Parts: sequence; structure tokens; C-alpha cells
Amino acid sequence: MASPPRIGLIGSGNMARAMVRGWAAAGAGATEQMVVSDRGSGRARALADAYGVDATTDNRELVDRSDVVVVCVKPTDVEDVVRQVSDHVGPDTLVASVAAGVHAATLENLLDDGVPVLRLMPNVPVEVGAGTITYATGRVRTDLTEAALSCLGQLGTLVELREPLFDAATALSGSGPAFFALVVEAFEDAAIVAGLSAEVGRELALTTMVGTARMLVEDDLSCGALRRMVTSPGGTAATGLAHMERAAVRGAIIDAVVAARDRAGELG
Ligand SMILES: NC(=O)c1ccc[n+]([C@@H]2O[C@H](COP(=O)([O-])OP(=O)(O)OC[C@H]3O[C@@H](n4cnc5c(N)ncnc54)[C@H](OP(=O)(O)O)[C@@H]3O)[C@@H](O)[C@H]2O)c1
Repeated sequence: MASPPRIGLIGSGNMARAMVRGWAAAGAGATEQMVVSDRGSGRARALADAYGVDATTDNRELVDRSDVVVVCVKPTDVEDVVRQVSDHVGPDTLVASVAAGVHAATLENLLDDGVPVLRLMPNVPVEVGAGTITYATGRVRTDLTEAALSCLGQLGTLVELREPLFDAATALSGSGPAFFALVVEAFEDAAIVAGLSAEVGRELALTTMVGTARMLVEDDLSCGALRRMVTSPGGTAATGLAHMERAAVRGAIIDAVVAARDRAGELG
């Protein structure tokens, strides 16, 4: 397909908003013919006003105007929504879902044979073009699949994953921004206890997080190597790390991700 696919998003909540905002910032015309919908809350209209996309409450009209339909509703609403539009979907339309726990086969079973589907697990940093988007294709992969993946690539890093691993990815990268935000919030609190102002504490916590992440990525450094670089015998980092290990920070994070993975398996 020569021109970029027309994208429609069913649902205008947190994830749809983050994706629309990411595409709007990326330019490249992705939002030009974009349509978003809601159930009447006005969130679709708000997105339309903010980012120049079209809004509707008619999901069938949205499908008729889209090559790629991204279902951005809660997992429990996916089946109803896909059933509602299924007779407007043919092989020239790709249906993608971002819903936690909803399998590609669930979409395929509700749609005609030959309709390409994509299961996605994005995270909210898509809104600044720094998202992580895991994806799995269904049984059918067409040029439209490649075109859709190319559009999604504007929102961050694409990682193809086997579907059985999606619950783990949902926990790690889908929910991950909430976990990292809690950790940074704890550093903001700690800054105040340690005597810094809230403003300076936030600046130091954020720049330290971003700088650490950049070193890990750009220098392809292991976490252990970076930790050793900062930890001299008897020094401040060694003292702080010993406290963190005694407080079982590592175990708490592992338990949280495993519990989130198990919860993802209960959804859909
Ligand atoms: N939030 C995240 O960080 C995140 C990360 C990864 C994946 N996800 C997935 O993204 C999906 C949406 O999550 P969210 O946080 O964006 O939820 P949300 O903020 O509650 O938004 C859900 C949206 O779906 C709309 N909706 C429901 N039924 C509809 C229908 N029949 N027709 C049109 N619109 C309909 C709602 O419309 P109204 O506004 O009218 O109520 C609302 O705009 C979930 O499946 C979740 O698993 C979310």
C-alpha cells in the first residue's frame, strides 16, 4: 500500500489518547484521516479538538472510514465492540487490539476468515514516541499488516512476541510505567527526607533515572556493571544498596511483576 493506512481507534481513553498524541507529534500524516470513537463521554470529541482527528460515536462508520482499526476499549468490552462492527470488516481492513489478555484468536473467531489481526501491548510512553509495543500477528499477515506495523513504529520500539508471553510483557512493559513512576515518587519523597526541596528532588530523581537508562541503552551496559561503577567499598552507594537489599526491594519488584502477569491472564 503506497499511502499510509487510514487509522481508526475505537475508544478514546488513556491508551487511545496516548497513541493519538504520539502520532500527532510524529507528524508523517498519520493523524490526517484518523477517526476516534467513544460511547458518548465526550472524550473522542476532546481528542478531535486537541489533535485535529475526527470523532464519532458510530463504530461502524469508523470502520468504514479506516484501513486499520485499533480496538482501545477495556478487555471485557472487546467482544461486544468487535461483534458490533464485524459485518463491516473484510480482508481490506486490519483489526488490532491493545486489550490486556485478549488473544488474536478471539478477534479472528469474531471476524471473517482472511481478515488480518494484530494483538498489541503498548505502554503510555507511546505519547512521547518512546513507547514499547509488543505485537503478535494472527493467522493472516498481509501488506496491511506491514503498513500498520510501520505506523506503530512511529510510536516507539516494536517487539514481536509469541502470544503465550504476552501476559508477562503486559506486566513488565504495559504496567511498567506505573511501577517506574512509583519508584521515582519514592525517590522524590526520599529527597525531601534527606533535606532537598521537592523541586530539586524531582529534578535530581528524573535526570538520574533518564541518565541511568541512557547509559544502560547507549553503552549496552549490564545493570551489575553500572552498579559496580558507582559502588566503592564502604561508600554511600554500598551503604544505600545494603539497605535496599535488606528491605527486599528486588523481591518486592519480582513479586509485583509476577502478580501483574497472573492478573493479565485473568482478563479478557
Ligand atoms: N492504560 C494503559 O496504560 C494501558 C496499557 C496497555 C494496554 N492497555 C489497554 O488499553 C485498553 C483501554 O484502556 P484505557 O486505560 O485506555 O481505558 P479507559 O481510559 O477506560 O478507556 C476506554 C475507552 O473505551 C471506550 N469504549 C468502551 N466501549 C465502547 C464502545 N462500545 N464504543 C466506543 N468506545 C467504547 C470508552 O468510552 P467512554 O469514554 O465513552 O466511556 C473509553 O473512551 C484496555 O484494554 C487496556 O488493557 C492500557
